[in-house]
Amino acid sequence: MAVTPSIHGMWSTRLAFILAATGSAVGLGNVWKFPYITGENGGGAFVLIYLLCVLFIGIPIMMAEILIGRRGRQSPINTMRTLAQAENRHGFWQLVGWGGMIAGFLIISYYSVIAGWALAYVFRAADGHFTALTGPEAEALFGDLVGDPERLLAWHTIFMVMTAIVVSRGVRSGLEQAVRFLMPALFLLLLALVGYALNTGQFMQGLEFLFVPHFEKLTAGAVITAMGHAFFTLSLGMGAIMMYGSYLDRHTSITRSAVLIALLDTLVALLAGMAIFPIVFANGLEPGAGPGLVFLTLPIAFGNMAGGLFFGTLFFILLVFAAWTSAISLIEPAVAWLVENQGMQRVRATVIVAILAWFLGILTILSFNQWAFSFPFAGEVKSNGIFDLIDILTANFMLPLGGLAMAVFAGWMMARRSTLEELQLPDGWIYRSWRFAVRYISPLGVLLVFLHGMGVL
Ligand code: PHE
Repeated sequence: MAVTPSIHGMWSTRLAFILAATGSAVGLGNVWKFPYITGENGGGAFVLIYLLCVLFIGIPIMMAEILIGRRGRQSPINTMRTLAQAENRHGFWQLVGWGGMIAGFLIISYYSVIAGWALAYVFRAADGHFTALTGPEAEALFGDLVGDPERLLAWHTIFMVMTAIVVSRGVRSGLEQAVRFLMPALFLLLLALVGYALNTGQFMQGLEFLFVPHFEKLTAGAVITAMGHAFFTLSLGMGAIMMYGSYLDRHTSITRSAVLIALLDTLVALLAGMAIFPIVFANGLEPGAGPGLVFLTLPIAFGNMAGGLFFGTLFFILLVFAAWTSAISLIEPAVAWLVENQGMQRVRATVIVAILAWFLGILTILSFNQWAFSFPFAGEVKSNGIFDLIDILTANFMLPLGGLAMAVFAGWMMARRSTLEELQLPDGWIYRSWRFAVRYISPLGVLLVFLHGMGVL
């Protein structure tokens, strides 16, 4: 079925899908979120759980999500409805699409604010603010930015407009080029930063923090957060990857694509961690400093290295691009749905989604200044107000539940023949392992983590 192309267009080359999906996966999640939540959750053991979740839950679900998208060829809501019908299943499966659309919308609202921080830091880097920066100065610089809601609003607005411009023109134009050249550049720059950390930071202490597990530090909340992050960083569970799969031709291997995307994404995150933690320890900063961690550490590195002005500016530009290619995929499902169901022009649909998300973003802006408050989550106290609430709700609950539903749909609701045909694999060990994973391992994994988090296990 679904040999007809998507009405929104198709990827022009096979590589385009891999590039776009990697662009979606690699973003603030890798460079900003992974280090700070690793720092907050005690390091090694947290990282290990995250890696296990990527391998056993993330990759099989990514394959499920791509195959569902390619078979349905529409926005996630309509794709799920069409496939449920084709497989004689209940219409409520389209709720997966709805939940995903709402999750994407909630995520973009804060994602754009944080990307705004990266934009602001491009200019701070370029005008020499980082030169010979010390730990306390880095804290003051960051504190200045997040304490000023007007400035945050300006950067948030700029980033949201950038995102809307690309989405309104259709995601394919420009995306390929951006990812093809900018991703490798970001990768190289991260390598250089690891090199810097190797020479000047407390490198071994950083590595130890990242990779030596201390299970006694692992709280129930940390386990949920690690699993949630596996979904977040791979862009899974909300339909972004399903949407991109819907533009995919019939000849590209879903298995190879999923493995490659997950590998690249994980590599970028680990490199970011290896660059950041040595600097944290060398400069007396706190690993658990929270969402500001990258903005506190990397400026110190750039400010104290040769050519730091250039590399610092370039780094934050690349980070903005990485965030941009992710942000696009966060609103694409909602825009595609408005075009399909409301018959809207693409431009109008984009403007509506962007404006709504922009408004919601104000709540995140205020979380870092006027409206900072604390609330308990799984025994820990969270203290970035509504931002943390939205983040926990989406990454820790909505994405894993969405992913769980996709695994169950692909593993139990779709006929074996349908998935076999769509994955275009021989009926051998690869296909069988995948099917076993989406039927048993991924769903049970998600459930176990939830039960553990609720204190039942
Ligand atoms: N994966 C992106 C990141 O790591 C964020 C994202 C989540 C994008 C969900 C799309 C969907 O930054």
